[in-house]
Amino acid sequence: MSMITIPPFPTARKLKSLAVLTSGGDAPGMNAALRAIVRYSIANGASVHGIYRGYSGLLEGDIEPMKISSVGNIIQRGGTVLKTDRCPAFLRKSVRKEAAKILADRGIEGLVVIGGDGSFTGASLLEKETGFRTIGVPGTIDNDIAGTDDTIGFDTAVNTAVEAIDRIRDTASSHGRLFLVEVMGRNSGFIALSTGVGGGAETIVVPEAKLTSAKIQATIQRGMSRGKTSSIIVVAEGPKPGLASRIATGLTASGFDPKVCTLGHIQRGGSPSAHDRMLASALGATAAAYLIAGKSGGMIGLTKNQVTYVPYRNVIGKKKVLPKIAMSLAEILST
Ligand code: F6P
Repeated sequence: MSMITIPPFPTARKLKSLAVLTSGGDAPGMNAALRAIVRYSIANGASVHGIYRGYSGLLEGDIEPMKISSVGNIIQRGGTVLKTDRCPAFLRKSVRKEAAKILADRGIEGLVVIGGDGSFTGASLLEKETGFRTIGVPGTIDNDIAGTDDTIGFDTAVNTAVEAIDRIRDTASSHGRLFLVEVMGRNSGFIALSTGVGGGAETIVVPEAKLTSAKIQATIQRGMSRGKTSSIIVVAEGPKPGLASRIATGLTASGFDPKVCTLGHIQRGGSPSAHDRMLASALGATAAAYLIAGKSGGMIGLTKNQVTYVPYRNVIGKKKVLPKIAMSLAEILST
């Protein structure tokens, strides 16, 4: 694990009362981020409220003051003790106005949102429309957020998937079988790429690169011709999960006998890795420091291993590019 550089925390003390919520898909390390936000804030003279179930809980006033002890014994726990939700109602301007009022009525002056692109969209609109200060902390296993090289939960999810592949390889090589392992990531191939390289997959299928059925078959056959009796193909689920099964149908029609294993939500759970705990602690504390200093309107991310502030306009709706070099590395190493 390489060391994360944390620039000096801003020292201004403008805000005295913050709130924090987790939103979208849960990710291992969200609890570590929450712990850092609460403890940094209290240590620096600001109070913190925890909002349960993301924006849905905010709208229902499911909000509680947090103490140092509220976040004790959670750094090692997966999921999020604040619970989470996807909240379509927050897409409405009138609803966001109502949310700002709920927060202001409790004397809360700034909000930390731990989540992904969709959650930041809500936070950014809330700030633009009502002036209520928000700051984002990237928490998603997908690592698909622009403006940050890493997201909380990605490392743990990849480790979980690689461990699963190691197990599948044992049975694949015992039986001489071809396996298609589907991993999460939605429109992004970061989980598939790291899992594929780390798990020594023969081929990796990602939404960012077109891979024809003929090319997949050629790769399997090339391996077989040099004596390989088993193969593992890692498939990113893409926008419509079930892609591994669809590829398997094509392979079956061409005379192969593939097995499909969809890792699914197993990748979302489990105790966060040491890396994710460190990342979450650094990003969480810095986010609290920025908000207390009155700096908002962006995300605290990681660039070249350094914690950085990135304005929402450079994050939201931007596509994070899968490094081409890593894709070619995967191809070279699997030959
Ligand atoms: O964004 C995280 C993620 O796990 C994606 O990889 C996946 O496509 C999606 O969430 C699944 O969402 P849900 O848990 O709502 O089915």
